[in-house]
Amino acid sequence: MTMSGTPDDVGSVPGPAVAGHGTGGSGEPDSAVPWWRDTVCYEIYPRSFADGDGDGVGDLPGATARLDHLRELGVDAVWITPFYPSPLADGGYDITDHTAVAPDLGTQADFDALVQRAHALGVKVLVDLVPNHTSDEHPWFREGLAARPGSRARERYIFRPGRGENGELPPNDWQSAFGGPAWTRVQESDGSPGEWYLHLHAPQQPDLNWRDHEVVADFERILKHWLDRGVDGFRVDVAHTLFKEQGLPDAGAGQHQDIHRNHLMPYYDQEELHPLFRSWRALLDSHPAPAGAVPPGERVMVAEAGIFDRERLARYVSPGEMQQTFNFAFLESRWDGAAMRNVVEQSVAGMQAVGAPVTWVLSSHDAIRPVTRYGGGQVGERRARAAALLMLALPGAAYVYQGEELGLPQVELADDRLRDPLWERSGHQDRGRDGCRVPLPWEGDAAPYGFSTAAPEDCWFPQPTDWAGLSAMTQEKDGDSMLTLYRRALRLRRDHPASDAALKLDGPDSGEWFGFERGSGLRCVVNFGAQPLPLDDDADVLLSSAPLDGRGIPQDTAVWMTLKEYDSE
Ligand code: GLC
Repeated sequence: MTMSGTPDDVGSVPGPAVAGHGTGGSGEPDSAVPWWRDTVCYEIYPRSFADGDGDGVGDLPGATARLDHLRELGVDAVWITPFYPSPLADGGYDITDHTAVAPDLGTQADFDALVQRAHALGVKVLVDLVPNHTSDEHPWFREGLAARPGSRARERYIFRPGRGENGELPPNDWQSAFGGPAWTRVQESDGSPGEWYLHLHAPQQPDLNWRDHEVVADFERILKHWLDRGVDGFRVDVAHTLFKEQGLPDAGAGQHQDIHRNHLMPYYDQEELHPLFRSWRALLDSHPAPAGAVPPGERVMVAEAGIFDRERLARYVSPGEMQQTFNFAFLESRWDGAAMRNVVEQSVAGMQAVGAPVTWVLSSHDAIRPVTRYGGGQVGERRARAAALLMLALPGAAYVYQGEELGLPQVELADDRLRDPLWERSGHQDRGRDGCRVPLPWEGDAAPYGFSTAAPEDCWFPQPTDWAGLSAMTQEKDGDSMLTLYRRALRLRRDHPASDAALKLDGPDSGEWFGFERGSGLRCVVNFGAQPLPLDDDADVLLSSAPLDGRGIPQDTAVWMTLKEYDSE
């Protein structure tokens, strides 16, 4: 019986297989299954991942130098969040040039070196495509501001006259997802108060007009640029927001308060998205690939779509559109057996209807770290470990956000260190997302823990003083650490490919516990209830998120096991 790992096991964790999909039990990748269907992709937030030049900010050469960590972890792909030139009004999602590298993060040659190294390690590379908005310092927006109302330059964005006698009221009642109105009034070049422009996020992120042919053409250029650089796919930022309902009708009360109503908002989930996504897919499927990258038909697009109606969400991954869409319902679920079970079942049913895999996600650069979200301290850590084994056993793809594999908690940063626009836009009610963007601890006893050679006070976010025990190097040597759990889970996952059979969950209606079979003989059981759950007599435990209580699975514990009945098959 194996528990949550021993140091001896750790040394033998192999690097990723050539393809991230099943081996059909033969040890050979099953070439009929596209690699992305059950891939494990690691999200790199580059400014906080690893600093190569000692300026206190993570960068592309720093990331390249740490790719071995990801190989040891056993991921199949990386997604790198925006590394493009940006005034950083929204952590890099306000872009001035979508086909360049931010000078503080490196050069195009550094990006090429990263891709080359990743590919040499058998790791695929996805980059972020941010099509909904640009920075307000983008040359197009500057040109629009300098131009007159009604001019061609303004058509690339959404400029409108205001309401009220003198245009002093915003054109409609739309609210920004970051709080406050989604409109800002400009001063015309003659100094007079002028039109308003739309920004569903920060005012420094004006929304593009996706009914403008130049916008459409420019994003084709951007896609081709990164494909020519060898990327294997794209994560598409706020994919549900690109088109706004014609006539820009009011959205009414309660905007951004109930995610389950998102698809009803006039600025989300519009019909015209789907022909656009089909055209991108056709481009990805046909544009030639350079050496080292996956061939045209195998490139992937993953939608960040904040849509929670499962039928509406499934449309983003219907045939000929994107292949994956993050399953945020799983991330949003509270730690409760009945709630989790319901989310798993609903998510699988929704995606099955269009033949797409579920893309599981427990954390990202936008979410409170799982350890903290699930209750913090030892309870939170215990649940985050169980959640990891649950996620990694489920059939489908999984995305792991940097530091999740180290079990990092959300950091409570001082007010004067907060950068997220949510903090100011919410009138200091919402501390925003900076607490999950603190630089990773790699090694050593004190900050910056190998993240940088800069002094701790010169790092772009300060790290806690008690993170030495969470560093990757410390955890590598600890058979019970979160890192060891993730490594072991990723290795076992590859040895036990998911079957195509429909997922069936078993367990009581109360949700005290539930279990399911991944296929290839691996069964996962999660106990949420206070009572220890007896293990099946014929179970061989492969991995457990916490020590077992004799032959009982304690509360907040997930176990991976094989059953003897499979062994005899
Ligand atoms: C996405 C990004 C988030 C950003 C927003 C606006 O949700 O993940 O970080 O703030 O888009 O671009």
